[in-house]
Amino acid sequence: MSLLSLCNRWEFTNSWSQSFLAFEGEGESVRLPHTVCQLPLHYANHMDYQMICGYRRKLYIPAELADKRLFLQFDGAAHISTLFINGKEVASYYDGYTAFRTEITGYVNFGGENQIVLRLDTTENPSIPPFGNVVDYLTYGGLYREAWLDVRSGSFLRDVYVTTPTRQQVRVEATVDNPDVAGAVLVEILEDGKVIASRQQDQGRNVFEVEIPGAHCWSPEDPHLYTCRVKLLEDGGKVLDEQSVRFGVRTAEFKADGFYLNGEKYLIRGLDRHQCYPYIGYAAPASLQREDARILRHELGCNAVRTSHYPQSQHFLDACDEVGLLVFTEIPGWQHIGDKQWQERACDNTRHMVSQYRNHPSIIAWGVRINESKDCDSLYEKTNAIARQLDPSRPTSGVRCIRQSSLLEDVYAFNDFSYLGNNPPLRQKKDVTPDMNKALLITEYGGHMFPTKSYDNWSRRQEHALRHAAVINAAAASGEHAGSFGWCMVDYATHKDFGSGDRVCYHGVMDQFRNPKLAAAVYRSQQSQTPVLELSSSMEIGDYTAAKPELVHVFTNAETVDVYRGGYLVNTIYPNSQWSGLKHPPMVVEDGIGQLLETREGIEPAHAAKIRDMLLQLRQVEIEKASAKDLKKFKSILRAAGLTMEDGEYFYRKYASSWGDSATAWRFDAKNGDQVVASATCAPSTRLHLEVKASHHELREGDTYDMAAIRVRILNEYDNVVPYAQLPVRFQVEGPAQLVGGDVAVAEGGMCGTYLRTTGETGSVRLTISTGQTEPVVVGFFVTK
Ligand code: GAL
Repeated sequence: MSLLSLCNRWEFTNSWSQSFLAFEGEGESVRLPHTVCQLPLHYANHMDYQMICGYRRKLYIPAELADKRLFLQFDGAAHISTLFINGKEVASYYDGYTAFRTEITGYVNFGGENQIVLRLDTTENPSIPPFGNVVDYLTYGGLYREAWLDVRSGSFLRDVYVTTPTRQQVRVEATVDNPDVAGAVLVEILEDGKVIASRQQDQGRNVFEVEIPGAHCWSPEDPHLYTCRVKLLEDGGKVLDEQSVRFGVRTAEFKADGFYLNGEKYLIRGLDRHQCYPYIGYAAPASLQREDARILRHELGCNAVRTSHYPQSQHFLDACDEVGLLVFTEIPGWQHIGDKQWQERACDNTRHMVSQYRNHPSIIAWGVRINESKDCDSLYEKTNAIARQLDPSRPTSGVRCIRQSSLLEDVYAFNDFSYLGNNPPLRQKKDVTPDMNKALLITEYGGHMFPTKSYDNWSRRQEHALRHAAVINAAAASGEHAGSFGWCMVDYATHKDFGSGDRVCYHGVMDQFRNPKLAAAVYRSQQSQTPVLELSSSMEIGDYTAAKPELVHVFTNAETVDVYRGGYLVNTIYPNSQWSGLKHPPMVVEDGIGQLLETREGIEPAHAAKIRDMLLQLRQVEIEKASAKDLKKFKSILRAAGLTMEDGEYFYRKYASSWGDSATAWRFDAKNGDQVVASATCAPSTRLHLEVKASHHELREGDTYDMAAIRVRILNEYDNVVPYAQLPVRFQVEGPAQLVGGDVAVAEGGMCGTYLRTTGETGSVRLTISTGQTEPVVVGFFVTK
């Protein structure tokens, strides 16, 4: 078997014609992944990517391949493709989210040049999912994943399907095309490159059972992978065809009370992911796809992801296998169910999804319903049957927003948007599902219930974060949820019918560039590897109504946090029992006075407590506006402590007042035992600098171009992001790379980004990032081949 990349040397036209098919004129020269048009960050128009366009390239096929069988594969073509070889129509594909693979052997000239042409309908064509009604995300257009020529021998391995029925058993099903030519099939299991088990059988028998006693199980915490190598042998033992599949040994089951991984109860905590990026839409190369999995697992500490609302790049799924993310994947669709033909296509989509993705150990369930559609038993009986037949090893599910709906699947997946900030964060299982014996999985919460921009004020961003905390806490504490997926990982561009007027849904815990909002800290703080300390306020009084900051929440995975005011310890705070379902509950700074009256002013504890309470009460109204009754009470509390009203006013100015007094400096030391693991300071600052993070610095011109994602944040001298630094950020590149999206971005919430794309050349690249208010930063990259 040999897979040859066909990502380069394509010509593109945004207006299909017979002359394009006939290879007349010239098209725009493009490489895959390709988007039919770049879109702006805000106010993107969904009409811009809708067209009937064309891709074409020439392909020389050597005469030596005449006894082979040839296949073309387009990993992602949004949305309806028709393939022509040498002017003849070969096949069409009506699924923009899985690979279009078709045999071309009978159409090509061996020993000659061939004309490959793909006609692509990128319109929101109502004859296929997800179209036919409104859709809350852009569906972009283009040959947006890789393309391949697959050369096989006359008899070849059409498919290898690996499952692990138990924690030490591997089941391999090898499907051989044109079997009688060859002799036997050999299955080898490899661990770290070494063969640890093998089985050989005659061709008639294509199911293999291999034992791996004491196998090293796959889990998010320990994503150990094995390889299954299958060889198709001729009678003499010569290898005719070979295929390798990575797999993980794991059992994954949903039971009435939740999800079980490798026999143990396991709480799913994840986010929903759309596959879109700024400017380029869906057309992101492998490295960016992989980067999202890394961010979800290692930056956000999630153990799961839902690929809403369609199957996503195999690169993303490969990375999920590697970093350890449980995946809920699903067929394309959004609320709407179309006519009979449309429904048949949804069935095809189910077939494509399950057969193309079923070897990923990360996938734990198939979503076989159109997201949030109404009941349609006749359709869903079919999609369930297809998934169960193609992959009996995994449960089916399907995402709904209706309660007590017809449950043909194994798991009730429900988008629970019931939380309004002051009511129970999740509905009870009995109120949601008609079958208490099947698991309940929350597949969305948050989202449109509380859209939040990275440049919203602190109160809103705190509320956004707390809502996420409330729901994941409730899912953990209830004991009746298999877990939850929050809506969603990143802000996304959408249609005119949704979004904030600029056609962006600000539903992410990250912005479109994958910069974290405050809510990201809720997820990040649930892992224990990297210390996290994030405050829900900059403590700037002027950002709050009447200059009265709210309770400060601290998102941390440390055991305790010491709060200092002007260098003096106010209090030590602890995980708050309100979120006891969480591994690392947020902490709350109840007040900014704490023990200071005792430690700094030498007041007896009993008196100090009363004075503190009084100060906090007066602060609500301001001492100047306090009632005579309250002032009298304050006076008597002070007198009992041997103090005067003058002392009281002094304490008020020092500890309770805000407006009209000198700003306070705060420090927060996050500690495990006696050791400070992270520290944060909030104090006035105007000295800004840039923080620049690149996804990777060594870019590879491989089968196609590479892209680095560059994330930029503007920080103050205490390394806190400055959310109101809406500065233009300039990018200047020298060397063999180009910027995607222009050379200026405006920092939103103090954050922005860009993408650097290779050009085909190798060498050093310098990217200079500058603003009018910071020192420039130069980042180096190297492009290799
Ligand atoms: C859901 C839908 C998502 C997204 C979300 C916003 O109803 O499934 O695609 O639109 O609402 O909160």
